Amino acid sequence: MTMTAPVPATPAPAKNAVSAKPGPFTVETVLEVKHYTDRLFSFRLTRPAAFRFRSGEFVMIGLPKEDGKPLLRAYSIASPFWDEALDFYSIKVADGPLTSRLQHIQPGDEVLLGRKPTGTLVLDALKPGKRLYMISTGTGIAPFASLIRDPETYEKFDEVILTHTCRQLDELTYGEELVAATKQDELIGEMAREKLVHFTSVTRDDGPVKGRVTDMIRSGELATRLGVPALDPTVDRVMICGSEGLLKDVKQICLDANFIEGSNAAPADFVIEKAFVSTD
Ligand code: A2P
Repeated sequence: MTMTAPVPATPAPAKNAVSAKPGPFTVETVLEVKHYTDRLFSFRLTRPAAFRFRSGEFVMIGLPKEDGKPLLRAYSIASPFWDEALDFYSIKVADGPLTSRLQHIQPGDEVLLGRKPTGTLVLDALKPGKRLYMISTGTGIAPFASLIRDPETYEKFDEVILTHTCRQLDELTYGEELVAATKQDELIGEMAREKLVHFTSVTRDDGPVKGRVTDMIRSGELATRLGVPALDPTVDRVMICGSEGLLKDVKQICLDANFIEGSNAAPADFVIEKAFVSTD
């Protein structure tokens, strides 16, 4: 008697060269694109049913190059974990390999999405505390757009202070709309209205508050304006997301105040993450 080897199922026809490869990416569809300034835009993608992430994490996003290989950059996920789609907030760089093309995407277009979100800007990397500072510049607000819509943020902290500093006033619009919508949200609105404080400043426009957040922390101006005491590692926790310079400077402020840097493996008092694609 002869045994016949099972015939392998015929693979489904490839959608395109990239999706044909079983790889670390899925091909998602653009649902919405919103342009805020000539330097900033956001976009919304379909979310695979199996895609899970922790608020504050980032994932690889990209487009296929002409040779079919993916061109990818890390992007913080700006939508809450409970949302049915995925939001991202991006800078536009005229000669940036990815964002020069990504800024032109339209609803219906396809974008590559990594399967494995990761990152250190997560609640799990912080020890319990009373007041949570989220300090951001530019597109560094993106991971906090997710974290301020996570009920766990408000379960773990009595007060949540989101600071956002940009060069110009119109660059604050994304955060202002986000916070306003969060406070009206059915699921999270009540907690956000009670605990979330949004502090903004600009550095190159005349605005209601002008100056770098680092200078305002060091001088005590931020604490005075918010009506809170100086940074204290026994009760305060800090998350930082922005440019390399911001990370370095706020990290130093934290270290000077005896805060210890946390990680997924060893939760502590503060965590940092570079705002991605700031130079793409
Ligand atoms: P500034 O205008 O004084 O450079 P960018 O668009 O370059 O990422 O900057 C976003 C915001 O972050 C700007 O308001 C910028 O202020 C501010 N910024 C840049 N570097 C630092 C830093 N090292 N500490 C605090 N704020 C910073």
